[in-house]
Amino acid sequence: MNPAPQPPRTLAVLVSGTGSNLQAILDASQSGLLPLKPVAVLSDRAQAPALDRARRHGIPAFSLELEAFPNRSTWESSLNEQLDRCHPDLIAMAGFMRILQAETVNRFAGRLLNIHPSLLPRHPGLHPHRRALEQGDLEHGATVHLVVPEVDAGFRLAQIRVPIRSSDTEDFLIERTKQAEHRLYPAVLAELAHGRLVIAPDAVFWKGRRLESPLEFPFS
Ligand code: GRF
Repeated sequence: MNPAPQPPRTLAVLVSGTGSNLQAILDASQSGLLPLKPVAVLSDRAQAPALDRARRHGIPAFSLELEAFPNRSTWESSLNEQLDRCHPDLIAMAGFMRILQAETVNRFAGRLLNIHPSLLPRHPGLHPHRRALEQGDLEHGATVHLVVPEVDAGFRLAQIRVPIRSSDTEDFLIERTKQAEHRLYPAVLAELAHGRLVIAPDAVFWKGRRLESPLEFPFS
């Protein structure tokens, strides 16, 4: 049984920096591979190059700098208002470097996604590539997951794997993983937009079956 209501049609993206994942999403949307309309890009840094990428694609781009607000709560209320105003069916965090308060996460539960550059549950949090090298991992990768109040702990929707080579430096591994992220994130969003991947209140379904473990890219 597929409990799907309507597949998502619109997307907001939260960014803080370079925005290469955002770029991959915008390119997929523009080429028609990803049938989701980006309706807003929000950054907590006014100087984030990701904002220029959005503007080049004609997508409304906003910055909300924490320092411009009297406290964390008013900043987060403003973020929520901006998001509510554009009614996104999905919100994708793509290199967004703030941890959202539980109230915000719960408000957008089931439509708030993040990409993390590791094979979660391995290496949540900071410097995942460095830790993978230090711990002698043979492979690394990236995970797209639902966001819950605990960092990088939400339900894992999909993963992509990359090899670790004996000659790898942290920078090499970061770059290889990023290339993989650029394939994974648009692909997961496309599964959602096509209604094959469905986030229900208490379970996730793929092609009508309950998903017990993350999809492995490429999906088949
Ligand atoms: C990516 O590695 C993402 O997984 C992590 O932050 C990085 C953002 O890179 N959360 P970019 O801004 O998308 O280039």
